[in-house]
Amino acid sequence: MKRALVTGGAGFIGFALCKQLAVSGYSVVVCDNLSRGKMDNELKTFLKKPNVEFVQCDLTKPEELAKLGTNFDYVYHLAAVQGTKNFYDKPAHVSRTNILCTINLLDWFVQLKKGKILFSSSSEAYASTISKFGGKIPTSEDIPLTIEDVYNPRWSYAASKLAGEVLFANYGKAYGIDFVIIRYHNVYGPRMGFDHVMPEFIVRTLKCENPFNIYGGTETRAFCYVDDAVHATQLVMESKATNETIHIGNDKTEVSIIDFAKDIHKLMNYKTEIKVNPAPKGSVARRCPDITKLRSLGFEPKTALKQGLKQSIDWYTNYFKTNKLP
Ligand SMILES: NC(=O)c1ccc[n+]([C@@H]2O[C@H](COP(=O)([O-])OP(=O)(O)OC[C@H]3O[C@@H](n4cnc5c(N)ncnc54)[C@H](O)[C@@H]3O)[C@@H](O)[C@H]2O)c1
Repeated sequence: MKRALVTGGAGFIGFALCKQLAVSGYSVVVCDNLSRGKMDNELKTFLKKPNVEFVQCDLTKPEELAKLGTNFDYVYHLAAVQGTKNFYDKPAHVSRTNILCTINLLDWFVQLKKGKILFSSSSEAYASTISKFGGKIPTSEDIPLTIEDVYNPRWSYAASKLAGEVLFANYGKAYGIDFVIIRYHNVYGPRMGFDHVMPEFIVRTLKCENPFNIYGGTETRAFCYVDDAVHATQLVMESKATNETIHIGNDKTEVSIIDFAKDIHKLMNYKTEIKVNPAPKGSVARRCPDITKLRSLGFEPKTALKQGLKQSIDWYTNYFKTNKLP
């Protein structure tokens, strides 16, 4: 049985990936420090499977990595602190955690002398390039990475992802490891917490906010449903792709924030006035990935926006039947 390790495996994408790997017949080690990912009933049930093991480990502490074990075929590095609120409130924590986790995991991985490792970067790493210098949208992997303003805490996360990419590229050169970098673009779905735009809109709709405030309306995002994102992630890992970067997202779902809010209201049968407020400073006007490289590996995103939204709304509505609204 092939062995896979997923760091950040209790989190949103990490957990969905672990479930998929377990179904694909892997022996799966789920690693998380449970700072954001929760030991909820879904995770508890999943951990009962015979081919799944949980290791609670803080990857910022190098001495803890010995707990992870050895002999992995694939190591998926998804652990990170993210969420716009964290970027502004705890920028030092965001940069420090993400960079230390990556360095420690790489140092641990080179000792194994086996397997392939994947780093989950983000479209945020090139967001400043687009806003400062322009750049093609949909955006391909060869776009330079930029940090617009190191003094704006908004970029604490983007900088940690940029640093992570540099670390992977240079460890690759120094130690000859087999690695691949992916950049996720606005992944959404059930169990993604409450800090992202989709759950926030769902929560405010459940609270019947009227008028419904949005901050910036014409900005667009191309949302990628989590099932598509994890299929693409496993496909990239198991492909021959090595020493390179691949964008993961859905280029068929680009939508303005105002239409996104309207879609959610419609699916939740809610009628309200939408009040458009100025966009937050540093907000990116348009984001959409060029996924030509991903397509060349045989991937095509399958989930339409309305279908993914419906599945997400069902999950959140059900969740709030037994949990308090935040
Ligand atoms: N969700 C998106 O749209 C998106 C977009 C771009 C990039 N990404 C990247 O994909 C990865 C997964 O994202 P997600 O949305 O599932 O995030 P998430 O916050 O749900 O999951 C990250 C997990 O990492 C864990 N973690 C944090 N610090 C840790 C530490 N020191 N040691 C061990 N575990 C730690 C958290 O507890 C959490 O469960 C992240 O690296 C994120 O930066 C996500």
